[in-house]
Formats: sequence, structure tokens, C-alpha cells
Amino acid sequence: MSAKKAFGVIGLGVMGQNLALNIERNGYSVVGYDIEPAKLEASRERFAGRDMLVAGTLAEFLGQLVLPRRILMVVPAGKPVDTVIDELRPGLARGDLLIDGGNSLFEETRRRMKALEGTGILYIGTGVSGGEEGALRGPSIMPGGNPEGWPLVKPVFQKIAAKGPDGLPCCEWIGPDGAGHFVKMIHNGIEYADMQMIGEAFDLMERALGLTPAAMQVIFDDWNKGELNSYLIEITGKIMGKQDPETGRPLVHLILDTAEQKGTGKWASGVALDLGVPAQTIAIAVFARMMSALKSERVAASKVLRGSDVRFEGDAASFVEMVRQALYASKICSYAQGFQLLRAADAEYGWRLPFGTIASLWRAGCIIRAQFLSKIQDAYQRNPALPSLLLDPYFAGAIHRTSPAWRKVIATAVEVGVPVPAFSSALAYYDSYRSAVLPANLLQAQRDFFGAHTYRRTDREGIQHTQWEN
Ligand code: 6PG
Repeated sequence: MSAKKAFGVIGLGVMGQNLALNIERNGYSVVGYDIEPAKLEASRERFAGRDMLVAGTLAEFLGQLVLPRRILMVVPAGKPVDTVIDELRPGLARGDLLIDGGNSLFEETRRRMKALEGTGILYIGTGVSGGEEGALRGPSIMPGGNPEGWPLVKPVFQKIAAKGPDGLPCCEWIGPDGAGHFVKMIHNGIEYADMQMIGEAFDLMERALGLTPAAMQVIFDDWNKGELNSYLIEITGKIMGKQDPETGRPLVHLILDTAEQKGTGKWASGVALDLGVPAQTIAIAVFARMMSALKSERVAASKVLRGSDVRFEGDAASFVEMVRQALYASKICSYAQGFQLLRAADAEYGWRLPFGTIASLWRAGCIIRAQFLSKIQDAYQRNPALPSLLLDPYFAGAIHRTSPAWRKVIATAVEVGVPVPAFSSALAYYDSYRSAVLPANLLQAQRDFFGAHTYRRTDREGIQHTQWEN
């Protein structure tokens, strides 16, 4: 066990430890390091008896690695990544590869790569999804950065990654620059929207139909057998069935309804604004978390503001099926928005993103893993230049099939006063996208009216201005 180690992991929180264990289990010896003594201790215990070493100092860590070094950083995004790079840099040699496996903002990855240009040190920013369990058993991995670094890490990452239904690894090269972290950010934006939409389905079934979590467990389990099959639906079913051991009540009813967030959904929404991409369902999922955080204001407002007196009347079982269809249609729109964001970034940065491959990497291992992703992969295989998922025949057909129920569910939600911001933003997205004419003609007239901002006409070329009043 004294031979030098094949792979280095810096940052030995549970994610870092689990990735290190996964790497070793797949045949690569590992040396790990962390600045926190408690994490070193915990790792020593978990790594015992394996071809793994926990270094006590950074110098020891660097000295224990085979050249060129392959070092995976699993530290919190932001300053800690810069600190680790600054500390490592003097000890690195040309050809060494640094990999950031955290949820870094892609622009920071771009900046860090630029700073290393000319040093001979290679840099990869990689998305890693799947939580702690995924890290240990097989995550989805989305690497991007210096293409010269990819062959150094490809065999390791493809071995430790989850495998799709066809047995292929959920890890492929995404592209240069910040492409890997960009794609992970979009994964997280979609994750936020998926979670919000499942929450809206839950809220509707609870508040409009009065269903219990136990009844909803059966429904979510059933949904998981069909086109909504996904990890998030699966765990929602399990959550519905979980009882608080102390009170015997459904645990979900005892959890404070205040969502937290670490920022990746917000970044995705901010980038949508920067790139000019209407990704409102992703953004509304972030705003919905923010609304949930206004707990005390909401409690106070609930005592003052009236809702609707209309009660749901109708067949509960058919409404549940309509909610399922509304969820599916809304999901198609949020994924369409996510892929539009990828397309816009591709045009902006020239990354040549492999859209179909990205969908295939999300089929297993990651939080948004779902049967649905294979359909997206198929859509991009049919047409790699697809302007929008909505225009793919499978998805257009699915929306056409589900849209009567989708509209009815939103109309009912409005009538009974249950908020469905993601469902309704997705429908508005769909209705806007399919409209050859939108009221922006009036908007342009108003801009020209009050500010002489000019406009263009549909029947002739050139910039126009009208004297709207005499
Ligand atoms: C993943 C997740 C993960 C993310 C959590 C929490 O792909 O494994 O996206 O990276 O950190 O989902 O995110 P929030 O705290 O922002 O909800």
C-alpha cells in the first residue's frame, strides 16, 4: 500500500468521501485531504482496509500522487475553490489536472481556467449529480473544460458513473470552457421546476380534493409506473408514506413549509435573463421558494386576505388523472426551456453542446433521472438542430393529448384558489410559443408613443416612428 496513488480527492465531506470510495471500488487507488481534522479522522475510518490514504498535509497529498496528478476538488462553491487552487498551485507541475466537482458557477470556472492558461495545468469543471448516495454508487457526471484533460479522467469517470438503461455510462465530455458547470446549473434549474410542479400536484390533491398523504402515496406510486416515471416522483411517494414516529402523523405535515436553496436555480434564472431566454417555469420555481420563505407574512396575510368560496365538485379520481396529465405537459415545457437555455449558451460561447448526449447523461444517477430523458435523447437524435422540444413530434403529440386536462386543472385551481405558478407559467409559455402574433405590437406602439423608441412594420422595411397625437 506504499505505492503512489492514482487519484487525489480534496474536500472530504460526505460527498468527497463517497466519490473517493467509488473511485477506489472501481480500481483506482486514492489519496484524500481536507483542512478539517474531523473530516480527516472520519475519512481514515471509512477508508481503512482499502487502497486509500488520507494525507495529513497538502505537501504529503501532492507527494503521494502519480504524475501527471489527477485531483478532484469537492469543496463548497465560491471562495473555497479559489483558496484550494491557490494553495495547490505552487506544488503542481505541468500536465497535472485539477477538477472542480462542486456546484460552481460556470462563469467562475471560466475565470479559473483563464487564470491557469499558459501554466500547463489542466482544468476541468464538472457537474456531479445524484447526492451522497449517487456519489457512492454512481452519479451522473458532466465534465467540461480543457479537452486535453478529458483522456486523463475519462476511464475513471465513466467507470464510477451511473449506467443508463442501455448500459452506457452517464458521463460524457460536454465541451470546453465552463460547459460542464453550465449544464449542471441547467440540470438544477430543471430540478427546481420538477420539484415545484410535483408540489403543486400535491397541493391540489390535498387542498382541492382533501386527499391524505397515505392516499397520495398510492397515486404517486402509480404515476411512477407510467410516463412520469422518475426519481423525484418515486421519492415523493415514499415521503407521502412516511409517518412521524413520535406523533404518528404524516411527517410531511410536520415539516415547516419554508424552502431553502443554495443558489443554482437562481443562477439558471439569472442566466436566462442574461441570454434573453424565456425560461419562466424555471424562474417561477425559484420565486415560489422565495414566496414560501415569507412564512410569517403569509401566516399574517392568511388571516386578512380572502380566497375563493368555490369548492371542487366533480369526480376526484378523474381529476387526479387530469393533474397527472397537467404535470406531464408542464414538465415538457420546463425541459423545453432548459434546453433552450443550453442552445442559447451554445450560440453565445460556441461550445458545440451535444444536446442528445446531455439528455442521455441525465437518464440515470442524477436527481432529475427519468424515463422521460430517453424521449428527449430520441428527439435530438431525430433532429440535432431541433429548435424546441415542443416541436418534436413525440412532445407535440404529448402536449396535444394532455392539454385539455392541463387547461382544466389550471382553470379549476384558479377557481378554488390553489396557487399553481409552475403549471400556469408552463401553459402560458406553451400558448405564447405557439402564437404567431403576440400583443407586443401594442407594446411597441406604446414605447413609440411615450418615448419615440420607434418600431418596425409588418408590411414594409425600415425603422418607423409615428406622431401619435397632434
Ligand atoms: C444534485 C443536486 C445537488 C443540489 C441539491 C440541493 O444534482 O445532486 O442538484 O447538486 O445541491 O439538489 O440544491 P438546493 O439546496 O439549491 O435545493
